[in-house]
Amino acid sequence: MCGALRLSDAGKKVVLMGWVNRRRDLGQIIFVDLRDRTGVTQVVFSHELSASVHEKAEALRNEFVIAAIGTVKRRDADTINPNIPTGEVELVVEELRILNVSKPLPFLPSDTVLANEEMRLKYRYIDLRRDAMQFNIELRHKVALAIRDNLASQGFFEIETPFMTRSTPEGARDYLVPSRVSPGSFYALPQSPQLFKQILMISGFDKYFQIVRCFRDEDLRADRQPEFTQIDLEMSYPQPERVWEVVEGFLTAAFKAAGHEIKTPFPRMDFDDAMRQYGIDKPDLRVPAFTDVKDCFAPADLEQLAINKDLPVIAIRIPHVGELSRKERDDIKPLFVSKGGARVFEDFKRIESKFPEAGAKVRAKAGAAADDLLVLVVGSAQSVRDDHPAGKRKVTPAELAIYASAGLLRVALAQKYSDRHKLFQKDDYRFLWVTNFPMFEWDEGDRRWVAAHHPFTSPHDEDMDKLETDPAMVRALAYDVVLNGTELGSGSIRIHRQDVQSRIFHALGMTEEEARSRFGFFLEALEYGTPPHGGIALGLDRIVMILAGADSLREVIPFPKTAAAKDLMMEAPTPVAEGQLRELGIGVVVKR
Ligand code: AMO
Repeated sequence: MCGALRLSDAGKKVVLMGWVNRRRDLGQIIFVDLRDRTGVTQVVFSHELSASVHEKAEALRNEFVIAAIGTVKRRDADTINPNIPTGEVELVVEELRILNVSKPLPFLPSDTVLANEEMRLKYRYIDLRRDAMQFNIELRHKVALAIRDNLASQGFFEIETPFMTRSTPEGARDYLVPSRVSPGSFYALPQSPQLFKQILMISGFDKYFQIVRCFRDEDLRADRQPEFTQIDLEMSYPQPERVWEVVEGFLTAAFKAAGHEIKTPFPRMDFDDAMRQYGIDKPDLRVPAFTDVKDCFAPADLEQLAINKDLPVIAIRIPHVGELSRKERDDIKPLFVSKGGARVFEDFKRIESKFPEAGAKVRAKAGAAADDLLVLVVGSAQSVRDDHPAGKRKVTPAELAIYASAGLLRVALAQKYSDRHKLFQKDDYRFLWVTNFPMFEWDEGDRRWVAAHHPFTSPHDEDMDKLETDPAMVRALAYDVVLNGTELGSGSIRIHRQDVQSRIFHALGMTEEEARSRFGFFLEALEYGTPPHGGIALGLDRIVMILAGADSLREVIPFPKTAAAKDLMMEAPTPVAEGQLRELGIGVVVKR
């Protein structure tokens, strides 16, 4: 292979096959960097050695595929390349076969400046030849293999579940597949194997896993693809801690395969605490938590600043940002997304000069050094809006709105100033379990409760009595594993009793009839001796993205889709032939 030869191979006769990565023609001598998956080797065509081979080599161009047969030679001391493992040797070619030619390319795998992403995706096969992509795809392979091995060693079976299935709601739209033999009926591609894995528990496969493709027709972002891969698992009889232990086990193996050691067990944090300290359910622990500094202000100060006295006053601290110019301070405002009437004071210095005593207290309480950036997020008079049932939660919706506004701004500021605070070190992996999520979320649009995770998640035993009377207070036995501000995975202990499952469907506003028609098969299965069970699913793409230090899933998926869910290489999706549609009994109405 092109990355294999070393000084100890000098004198050997070898054959290398690969692509012409770079070609330098010095007249009597031609150098080619020959490349394959494993690296590059310098191959040399010398007129002196063989005029015919040298002449043939003159025809070589970028990305031609060749076989070079020759003898490995130690390079002259002044031509050694210490930057590549094969840099001490070269192959002096005695015979050349041109296995294939290449048209001039839209861009080269060896280009140091990247082509734009549209080009990269259209010519993905060329883009994938780049070192960085080869590295990422190999990393993905190693990580998946390590996880598979680890889960098998923990006693899990890998079991496949169908792709042509029935729609199960997980919050996104389904991709549908029309049935030819049952016109007007559709399969759904799975958003996850949720119900199948629960049914596998009923079937006695007490430890299941699958590295499985899932499909969701949802709005895409850098960390979302319409088809993505989950490490999906389920087990019988676990406490949440047992599931966490399993996950920590395979993540340790996965990170080790990528050359990193991680510490277990991961810290744990209650959902309510995550919101109070970070304003988000996936806190990035590398950046300091924020602080409620309301008690640093005298009531009169709050009044003068038109700050709502009943709500938290949040100080966001980003270390080592230093003095901001007026323009930089102005740039903070557009980063702020106000929820529930929250306001931002981006100019803390001004508050400090007007209210020096309060300012000093805020600095002390937030632990701010002189060069730290401090920004306040507060409630305004309009903020109080605790009129719906969630008002009885430990954290009220109005408070939550302030926390969430501050949480988003904290993340935005930390990203904006990452080159100043330098807290985002590549190998600093800060895992976290976020636990005790609320069972339900209030959907303001539909004015009804929806499942915060999914409707098969078990409520806490001690909150069972509030299911009908006070859904806002019900905590779920649900947990997320979070890494550096990204949700890696989500799971829960499930409902294993049919009567409880029915109560949940009811709490979600489903009639008995609706529940039976959508999930009848499952409700029935629950009645035939279902063991208590629970599990989780982690996004493989997200794990590899973080390990690769990439900022989009597209960098770690061989053939990804664009934000408009298109495959630019194959040009999918496409219209299909009229006859194909007729066979499926489908007519297309184009909306104008
Ligand atoms: P959930 O919907 O939270 O849970 O998904 C679990 C994990 O899958 C990954 N993920 C995605 N990755 C890329 N693109 C997407 N569009 C995408 N959507 C989700 C995330 C996420 O944390 N059945 C439950 C799991 C369970 O309860 O066991 C489920 O699918 O990393």
